[in-house]
Amino acid sequence: MPITTHAELAGIKKISEAVAITLKEMREYARPGMTAKALDDFGGSILKNFGANSAPKLSYNFPGWTCISTNNEVAHGIPSENKILQEGDLVNIDVSAELEGFWSDNGGSFVLGEDINNHNVLVKASKSILFNAIRQIKGGVKIADIGRFIEMEAKKSGYRVIRNLTGHGVGRSLHEEPYDIACYYDKSNVKRFRKNSIVAVETFISTKSTNAIEISDGWTLAGQNGGFVAQHEHTIMVTDSEPIILTEANQIWN
Ligand code: CO
Ligand code: CO
Repeated sequence: MPITTHAELAGIKKISEAVAITLKEMREYARPGMTAKALDDFGGSILKNFGANSAPKLSYNFPGWTCISTNNEVAHGIPSENKILQEGDLVNIDVSAELEGFWSDNGGSFVLGEDINNHNVLVKASKSILFNAIRQIKGGVKIADIGRFIEMEAKKSGYRVIRNLTGHGVGRSLHEEPYDIACYYDKSNVKRFRKNSIVAVETFISTKSTNAIEISDGWTLAGQNGGFVAQHEHTIMVTDSEPIILTEANQIWN
């Protein structure tokens, strides 16, 4: 959505802070031995305290307040009772929600406890790629050029990108124009970032796969060739210079 009034800016800031703090607190609360459901219920209670509604629940009737994907799961993982978090797991939490008609989205991958499976290299690559990609976004920049940057940086680090999951516009709904902020150079995309618009920018940095496919539970996405994927996501407002990072409070870069 384009921001045209102070009230709109205040509204998008409020929900962005709610999803950012929920993500940060969930990451800090996660412990080996905990079920994904317990972690999700904790996140759901924080959203509720903000008065916010879970976006995946509201939009898709998703079975959880947040998406919690572990190890070979790429995205939309169900926070189920039988998913027990283990030391060294690659965990992704994605929190998106609605408050007073405004929507915001953020997510991040991290290693739970000791990095006994050596996932941190991948996590660090994804974090720094998102950081450097966001710094280049301003009004007039081609969306395809940001995709090219993400893909090139991933390649430099020996990784691939997931091509069928993308960042997107956000604000008055969870997904809105532009729908396709891809992690690769999509030369057919001639759209440009627009000043004062709200977008969710996300990385999908991958060790093996280039596409995400749905597994038999009807929700969870996994790579078509297996392997691991790290995702980091911020909701930002595009300006004439560096963007305003509305979900900065999630501290995913720290
Ligand atoms: Co998200
Ligand atoms: Co998103």
